[in-house]
Amino acid sequence: METILLNNGVEMPSLGLGTYKIGRTDEEVYHAVRSALDIGYRHIDTATLYQNEHSVGKAIRDSGITRDELFVTTKLWGSDVLAHNVKGAFETSLRNLGFDYLDLYLVHWPVKGRLQEVWKELESLYYSEKARAIGLSNHLIHHMEEALQNATVAPVVNQVEQHPYLNQEELREYCEEEGVTVQSWSPLGSNKIPLLKEPVLAEIGSNYSKSPAQVVLRWHLDIGAVPLPKSSHPERQRENFEVFDFRLTAEEIGRIGALNRDHRTGMHPDNMEF
Ligand code: A2P
Repeated sequence: METILLNNGVEMPSLGLGTYKIGRTDEEVYHAVRSALDIGYRHIDTATLYQNEHSVGKAIRDSGITRDELFVTTKLWGSDVLAHNVKGAFETSLRNLGFDYLDLYLVHWPVKGRLQEVWKELESLYYSEKARAIGLSNHLIHHMEEALQNATVAPVVNQVEQHPYLNQEELREYCEEEGVTVQSWSPLGSNKIPLLKEPVLAEIGSNYSKSPAQVVLRWHLDIGAVPLPKSSHPERQRENFEVFDFRLTAEEIGRIGALNRDHRTGMHPDNMEF
């Protein structure tokens, strides 16, 4: 599996499995994660909010894959920030997952007025060596600037909604200058928009015998982002994983980028309340 080098020297697999709503029951979550691991996924992304850390952790532990071959992320929810429970939330996530360290811990959404304070708490988790890397999620440029004013550790990633209808060019440029890797949630545009029906994707895919979803995932990789596609179905998980045997041309990347319409399927980060 290809990896990307984060700004603190830690390697992260270049594509991961998103697990938001990956199953309606604990069993469904468990089987979806087990099948992804069987296919070859080694990077799993969850969050406190998803309420599936227990099943995700069990699937990982039962897979028999050694912990150091895996990259596992979870995220801090805003209500724990408001309750001054950052360390407690982190320990609960570790316990739910059944691990003694995390590969990556993220601030899930910016919490107004608390950005710097939360980042300081994450820094202390990083210094405790229970998180190999720390980062942000859903932070706009102004949130990043505010959060990092007195930072002693740079975030390794900012995980944001990103797909060809929301191509995040400005944020990506900023992150690149700061050495922050951008991870894409809903990289396929979720099921709320008809992105995968765009004719240009099928047209480009026909050059490589790849599906529209594979073309979109390759676009993420080729612009330097780390996509986290979610699928509950093993055949789609496999399809989403088979994107490392072709590359898009600069012209194709440009044509896909031109689909942008700054369309968010999720919440605007300035409007998030806890
Ligand atoms: P499902 O879980 O039923 O496969 P995103 O990661 O952008 O939020 O997208 C996830 C949505 O896209 C889910 O509804 C998922 O449904 C669907 N999906 C995932 N992979 C594919 C694929 N290769 N082709 C079509 N739809 C997909």
